[in-house]
Amino acid sequence: MSIEITWLGHSTFLINTGKHKLLVDPFLDDNPAAPIKSGDVKCDFILITHGHGDHMADAVKIAQRTGAPLICNYEISLWLAKQGVANAIGMNHGGAITQPFGKVKMTIAHHSSVLPDGTYGGNPAGYLLTLDGAKIYIAGDTALFGDMQLYGRDGLDLAIIPIGDFYTMGPDDSIEAIKLLKPKRVAPCHYNTWPPIAQDAKKWADMVRKQTSATPETPEPGGKFSI
Ligand code: NI
Ligand code: MN
Repeated sequence: MSIEITWLGHSTFLINTGKHKLLVDPFLDDNPAAPIKSGDVKCDFILITHGHGDHMADAVKIAQRTGAPLICNYEISLWLAKQGVANAIGMNHGGAITQPFGKVKMTIAHHSSVLPDGTYGGNPAGYLLTLDGAKIYIAGDTALFGDMQLYGRDGLDLAIIPIGDFYTMGPDDSIEAIKLLKPKRVAPCHYNTWPPIAQDAKKWADMVRKQTSATPETPEPGGKFSI
C-alpha cells in the first residue's frame, strides 16, 4: 500500500497511510504558505517536533476538534495538559512507542524549544516512523549532525529535512545530511514561508540529484507525492 504525503507549507505535513492520517507540526492559520486552515484538517494523530509556534501553533485546537492524540516530548505534554489537551503522549530522546499506525521513535535534533508563552519546552526532536511498508525520518528543526548516519542505517523510504537556513541547516548542509541518511526519497521543509528562509527548491533538487542517490520530492504547498 502506498503512503501519501501532503506538504501543507513550512514544516506541516499530512502522512496518510491509508488507514491513519498523521499530522506533523501543525502550523496553518498564521502560516503565510499554508493552503488550508486548521479547521479543514482531518487527522488521527498529531506529531510535534518542538515547542516553537511555527510547529505547534494550531496543535491545541486541532487536538480538541479531532480528539487526535498528540505525540511530543514530555515537557510539551505537560504544557498541553494545562491547555486542556489530556491525551498527549510525552516521550524523550531515544524512546520508541508502538501506536496503531506503527512505531515512532523520538530522535535528537540540535535546535531549541521554548513554548509560545515562554514555558520551558524541553528538548527539540525528530521522529523515525516505521509504518506499514515504509520508514520515514522527520528531522525537525535541526543543524546537521553526524548521528544522522545511524538514523539511516536500516534504510529510509523518505527523509523530511529542513533546508531554509538561518534557523536550521541550509541547502549545503542538507546535502551532507542526505549523504548520511541515504534515503530513497527526500522532501525539503522549513523554507519559503518568510523571506529569511527563502530557498530555490528547483536548484536544491538539482543538487540532490547530482550529489546524492536520493530522489527529491518538492511539491508546492498543498501538493502531494506517494512513497
Ligand atoms: Ni524551531
Ligand atoms: Mn521552526
